[in-house]
Amino acid sequence: MAVEVKMPQLGLTMEEGTVSKWVKKEGDTVKVGDILLEITTDKLTSEVASEAEGTLIKIVAQEGEDVPVKGILAYIGQAGEVVGGAAPAPTAAQAPAAAPVPKKVGKTTVAVIGGGPGGYVTAIRAAQLGGEVTLIEKNKLGGTCLNVGCIPTKVLLHSAEALAEAKNMAELGINVEVKGVDWNKVQAKKSAVTNQLVSGVTSLMKANKIKVIEGVASFATKDTLTVTKEDGSKENLTFDKIIIASGSVPAVPPIPGVKENANCVDSTGALSFETVPKSLLVIGGGVIGIELATAYSRFGTEVTVVEAMSKLLPMMDGELTAQLRKMMETRGIKIMTDAKVQSVEGAGANTKVNVEVGGKVEVFTAEKVLVAVGRRTDTEALNLDGVGIAHDRGRIAVNDKMETSLANVYAIGDCLGKVMLAHVASAQGEIAAENALGEDVVYDGATNPSCVYTDPEFAGVGLTEEKAKEMGMDFQVGKFPLMANGKSLIMNGGIGMIKFIIGKEYKEVLGVHILGPRATDLIGECALAIGMEATVEDIIATIHAHPTVTEAVREAALAAEKRAIHIPNK
Ligand code: FAD
Ligand code: NAI
Repeated sequence: MAVEVKMPQLGLTMEEGTVSKWVKKEGDTVKVGDILLEITTDKLTSEVASEAEGTLIKIVAQEGEDVPVKGILAYIGQAGEVVGGAAPAPTAAQAPAAAPVPKKVGKTTVAVIGGGPGGYVTAIRAAQLGGEVTLIEKNKLGGTCLNVGCIPTKVLLHSAEALAEAKNMAELGINVEVKGVDWNKVQAKKSAVTNQLVSGVTSLMKANKIKVIEGVASFATKDTLTVTKEDGSKENLTFDKIIIASGSVPAVPPIPGVKENANCVDSTGALSFETVPKSLLVIGGGVIGIELATAYSRFGTEVTVVEAMSKLLPMMDGELTAQLRKMMETRGIKIMTDAKVQSVEGAGANTKVNVEVGGKVEVFTAEKVLVAVGRRTDTEALNLDGVGIAHDRGRIAVNDKMETSLANVYAIGDCLGKVMLAHVASAQGEIAAENALGEDVVYDGATNPSCVYTDPEFAGVGLTEEKAKEMGMDFQVGKFPLMANGKSLIMNGGIGMIKFIIGKEYKEVLGVHILGPRATDLIGECALAIGMEATVEDIIATIHAHPTVTEAVREAALAAEKRAIHIPNK
């Protein structure tokens, strides 16, 4: 029975390859491991080795042909054997060509709704491509990210980390007296950084000749927006293309007592407490809950985290999440998983939170309660139903070109209700702008890193071990503890670990997960590796500087091949 030779998948992002050269020809005898052909993708050239012994009886895909992953390239069998059976998978070359999109003469008018990291990046890209761009923002340029999200949280975390380091200085041989936290100055620093970045976005709008209108945008027709200004006046504006980047707002769970209680705050409230609270109960052990728990516990707040699921940060690598939990607990943060807040009672300085955990109800008292159970899309004002833009409970539906169900209307970022990250919103915004201005590009989230700014930092890209198992993939794991990395030992005592997930057959990098100092910077190399369809050998062959934490990235790659130098290989 003849054996099929198939187009291999050399990386997470590979969809097809081109047969660049046949090394063997029909009729040749081949052994296992003999190179049969060379293939190329838009990123690499690779050899395909034979996995069978026999005669190359038929070449199906000729040189120059594009073949989808797992498409049949050839058959190996007995000399003279005739191959039949199912027809090979259609090649990309045989697919009907898409009709060319006519390009508009003159400037294309583009409206962008929302000035967050999705919207302002979209507007700049559209302007770069020659669009006449108007951005409509109902609040502040910079959106959630710059004003009440990524940036202000990182300012608080930076001050909190500096405080922890200052308290630890004696260990480094430096004697300092730590007098405590000047909360007003911490808040002033937060405002200064935020304001500087927001004014930077304002300058970028001017530099790119983008018209900014303050007001709430709503669809009047499929190509006309009504903008309602603060004074109540309305203006109707018509555009060739409209890109929605309206973002998200905190979700309020239907827990009795939460809405009514002034001590229950969302992330925006928790960034601007008047004083450092003595105690804080966090509902939700997701990204916001964990980052703010880290910051406030460093500032001296007694922190309790209540998470409904069985683990914190459900989307991150489970093994490293468990390590992070232990570290947080060692620092005095109380963490409860599989725990459900039933109700919130009381007012004044002490709020009572009733939590069901292990079949019992425990009562906690806290000065403040942070509600961080996720975010919902901010799409109510848009009149999506009125003009027929498909959505699922406010989450706008798009294809991989970021097109909505309405021609010429695109949507990106948090308002899709999927991956709510600033860099994802920006990446999708560039795709939407390019498509709106006549290009033909698709969004691919395979290289999207997830970063949590804990202490130490936590970052991951690609598949987690759990996900690779769930997908039934054949993979191997390499782990390197940071205790064996010089720079980590200097920086944080060697706390943390790097973990590689690689494909068993082709050794492609499937996922990398890092708990350790500078994890959120280190993950860039790993995202690039996945994007370039790199193999573990590519990481190993790259010389990493000494002494750095990046050396540990290479060591974890080596560990996946049982070749680690600085730890014993099991
Ligand atoms: P947004 O930033 O929400 O911007 C949408 C904008 O649209 C807003 O300014 C809004 O006022 C405006 N708007 C809405 N409706 C209308 C309308 N009808 N008319 C006119 N204007 C409208 N992500 C990360 O990647 N890294 C982090 O470290 C990080 N930290 C975070 C910390 C916190 C506390 C929070 C809450 C979020 C954090 N995020 C982080 C998530 C990140 O902020 C969002 O994913 C990102 O801001 C989404 O960008 P966006 O442009 O889609 O939406
Ligand atoms: P989240 O989705 O990350 O976490 C919410 C958590 O709350 C989940 O673990 C969930 O199981 C839990 N939960 C839900 N209902 C609950 C209940 N009733 N009781 C107890 N636990 C409950 O959402 P979060 O933390 O609000 O953040 C929103 C989004 O903001 C994130 O998804 C992320 O996209 C973005 N963000 C990103 C950051 C980063 O990239 N570093 C930092 C902060 C936010």
